[in-house]
Amino acid sequence: MQSNSHIGKLLKLSIVSLAMISLSMVINAADLAAEIIPGKGEACVEDKDFMRRNHMDLLRHDRDETVHKGNRDIKHSLKECISCHAIEGSDGKALTVSSPKHFCRSCHDYAAVSVDCFQCHASRPELKTSDLSSEELKKVLETKESEGKDK
Ligand code: HEC
Ligand code: HEC
Ligand code: HEC
Repeated sequence: MQSNSHIGKLLKLSIVSLAMISLSMVINAADLAAEIIPGKGEACVEDKDFMRRNHMDLLRHDRDETVHKGNRDIKHSLKECISCHAIEGSDGKALTVSSPKHFCRSCHDYAAVSVDCFQCHASRPELKTSDLSSEELKKVLETKESEGKDK
């Protein structure tokens, strides 16, 4: 590459500014902490800073492998994340990922990340019917009906 040419300089400049933009995104995502509601309990499944940076690698699965052969490399369950990081809405029920306040969206929206996980996985803790009174059960069934699919 002709590093002294005008184009070379421009290129360098744009690479540097791109790097700065992505760097500031990372820093800002961390600064968002005030708006990130901590999970239940004392600690996460791993160190908090580690989780910020690496949670995606703990969870990611090769779709076909998981579906057909079981999951080998997945260290933590998504269900666990969802149960500790459930956030209650004004109706007292856990928010689904359709709410921007959902834990997983608290950074993702900001960082312009979108995940398709919740097309298949529940985004709030699943209710056990045995935990409910018949009155509550009736309500849940009604909401499910009006919501269509429970995401
Ligand atoms: C036992 C409950 C529990 C489970 C299970 C859990 N977390 Fe956490 N998580 C927490 C707590 C508590 C914190 C806050 C820790 C702190 O402040 O040191 C936290 C913090 C985090 C953070 C950092 C948030 C911030 O403020 O920057 C991320 C990201 C995170 N968890 C993702 C996950 C993911 C993904 C999973 C599933 C693999 C998961 N957690 C499972 C309780 C949990
Ligand atoms: C502390 C902020 C924060 C929280 C809370 C958070 N994420 Fe993330 N997540 C990010 C950032 C930032 C990225 C993009 C990082 C990158 O691409 O290197 C990301 C990326 C991901 C990816 C990879 C996306 C891709 O296209 O490769 C997955 C999967 C993911 N997050 C799952 C989750 C789940 C599930 C939750 C909720 C349990 C969650 N995240 C909560 C910040 C967060
Ligand atoms: C096409 C449907 C589909 C999509 C999309 C999908 N998964 Fe899965 N996932 C499955 C199936 C099926 C299993 C195996 C059955 C099970 O354990 O629930 C599974 C299992 C898992 C497991 C281990 C089991 C557990 O208890 O959590 C994790 C973790 C997981 N998926 C995370 C993710 C994340 C993160 C995303 C988004 C990046 C995602 N999945 C997207 C279908 C899907």
